[in-house]
Amino acid sequence: MARSVIRDDGKRDRLVRHVYGEIPPPPQRLDVARRPWHEAGGEILTLSMSHDGRTHTVDGALFLPPDARGPVPLVVGLAFLGPLGAVDAPGFPVDPNAVVEATSAGFPDGRLRPAMRGRHAARWPRDLFHAAGCGLLLACYGSFTPDDPIASFARGVAPLIGIGAMPMPALPPEGNSPGALALWAWAYSRLVDVALARPEIDPARIVVAGHSRLGKAALLAAAHDTRIAGVFANNSGCLGVRPSAIRRGETPDALAARFPHWVTPAFAADPHPPDGVDQPDLLAAVAPRRVYAASATEDSWADPAGERAGLIAAAPAWRALGCDVPEIDADAPLVAGAAFTVGPLGWHLRAGPHELTRDDWERALPHLLEPPR
Ligand code: GCU
Repeated sequence: MARSVIRDDGKRDRLVRHVYGEIPPPPQRLDVARRPWHEAGGEILTLSMSHDGRTHTVDGALFLPPDARGPVPLVVGLAFLGPLGAVDAPGFPVDPNAVVEATSAGFPDGRLRPAMRGRHAARWPRDLFHAAGCGLLLACYGSFTPDDPIASFARGVAPLIGIGAMPMPALPPEGNSPGALALWAWAYSRLVDVALARPEIDPARIVVAGHSRLGKAALLAAAHDTRIAGVFANNSGCLGVRPSAIRRGETPDALAARFPHWVTPAFAADPHPPDGVDQPDLLAAVAPRRVYAASATEDSWADPAGERAGLIAAAPAWRALGCDVPEIDADAPLVAGAAFTVGPLGWHLRAGPHELTRDDWERALPHLLEPPR
């Protein structure tokens, strides 16, 4: 059983420094060029991020509800295949430098290809966002920082901001320097920078969302960036909402062995959180803002019972800040459709495998989009 926590940013910092590494500061400049994406009814945004004379560019896509009367809430997502895979329409450029998870890509080199257009469209149901009066801002995580043990530090955000900027072949940086999850969390904050510059978007209702490894990164971003009103961490599991003390499903050891570049070199070498801190301390840092987590019945690797236990353990942090968060039944049967929404916290268990589905959004969106109190 996970211990209960109340918010303590010192504990969050201790956890983050060892496990993920500190999220780097923003770049000195962020410029955005806009052009219509006619085929998809949105806009293509090219972010140019500059730091110490270096520049890195990433394309994203913005969709605003067509009939908005006034500023709209926004979901900010990093996606495995980015707008290319999330939208079933031609016109979005293929990023030749992105490296993404090889199984999603379907190609062992993890490179994006035109054949991936629309492959993940079901994960980002734009009609649902629009019906809810909500915008969507999406980019490919692998365009910011490649998902690869070597390329993570050789290309993208790391050399831009001076982490691991060393001659090829690049070596992972030392000690507690950030791993890729921290750099993807940084990417969420850059998308928030972009959103905040747009008058069509309500600055008080910008939420971040991610599936699996990107649920972990979204949670990390929300735990630091207080401009983020809420986070939807879908099937985030180990180093997401599931406490590491629960030794079920994926353990930190298993994660660090397969994905050493996601975490600090120190954690990759010794995959245990520092004494007295765990994932609920990260969740608690989002209080009093919104956290919604979702699990799936067949996703034993992410450990649905553990994901729910993580939220329950963090709930006292919201109560301590005066939020009305009734007790959550830790022993309620873990059956498909099990769910709770208590104040700013929510969770559900969907039937089926590790995936982000329309069903998940139908439950998560209303909770995330409730006006701030
Ligand atoms: C692997 C990894 C998980 C991760 C998942 C994903 O299964 O072990 O930690 O969440 O990939 O990102 O899809």
